[in-house]
Amino acid sequence: MNREPIDWEQAEDSFLGPSLAAGDATGWFDRLYAAAVDGRVTMPWSRENPHPLLVDWAHRTQLRGAGRTAVVVGCALGADAEFIAGLGFTTVAFDVSATAITLARERHPDTGVTYLSADLLDTPAEWRHAFDLVVEIITLQALPPDLHARAAAAVRDLVASDGTLLVIGAVPDTETPNTAVPDDGTAAAPWPLTRAEIDALASDGLHAVAIDTLPMPDRPGESRWRAVYHRPAQN
Ligand SMILES: C[S@@+](CC[C@H](N)C(=O)[O-])C[C@H]1O[C@@H](n2cnc3c(N)ncnc32)[C@H](O)[C@@H]1O
Repeated sequence: MNREPIDWEQAEDSFLGPSLAAGDATGWFDRLYAAAVDGRVTMPWSRENPHPLLVDWAHRTQLRGAGRTAVVVGCALGADAEFIAGLGFTTVAFDVSATAITLARERHPDTGVTYLSADLLDTPAEWRHAFDLVVEIITLQALPPDLHARAAAAVRDLVASDGTLLVIGAVPDTETPNTAVPDDGTAAAPWPLTRAEIDALASDGLHAVAIDTLPMPDRPGESRWRAVYHRPAQN
């Protein structure tokens, strides 16, 4: 008997909880995407269009990518990567979920993006300081707080000399930021980056260019960090 897929946001806890309880902070992503492929849940993180705050920033800065490289971290099904590639960047997009990467390739059969399955926490050595533009949208916040500093360092490490890092994510309730990581299978994610974490991204040679909290288009009452960093060119 065919059943309607469960809304993935309703099912998320049942994937996340056991994964965290087993000490595995990332394995649940692929299991959630695989469940969507099987029709058990709706497809997570499957927006068709690039993030509106990415599009807005690209337009404001007249972003052009010809002759430049970009990487999209935690790319899911590729909407942001396709947008960046459309601006002319030679674009790599990676995700820890092999299923997400298969889906991204299927969704964009004529793509110029190189979609790869890779773990931000264990990136290839040749990616060190390799990308003129690094785009990170709500992936750091999908990792438990005790991994934020390590994951943020890995994101910074991707930024080339004279390169730019763009981070977009939820703004936490400053009174009570989420730091809970229950090991009993109950809900926890996401763990939005705190102001201190956003500020601390400006290290290891990166400077903050602009740190804004902006209203989320189409989501009244919600706001997002949009933070831009730059690694000055080495002479
Ligand atoms: C919250 S979703 C966001 C997806 C997309 N960036 C967006 O804005 O819709 C986080 C994505 O990052 C991926 N991810 C989580 N941890 C990762 C890691 N350590 N390395 C690479 N990708 C990761 C997940 O599989 C998932 O596709």
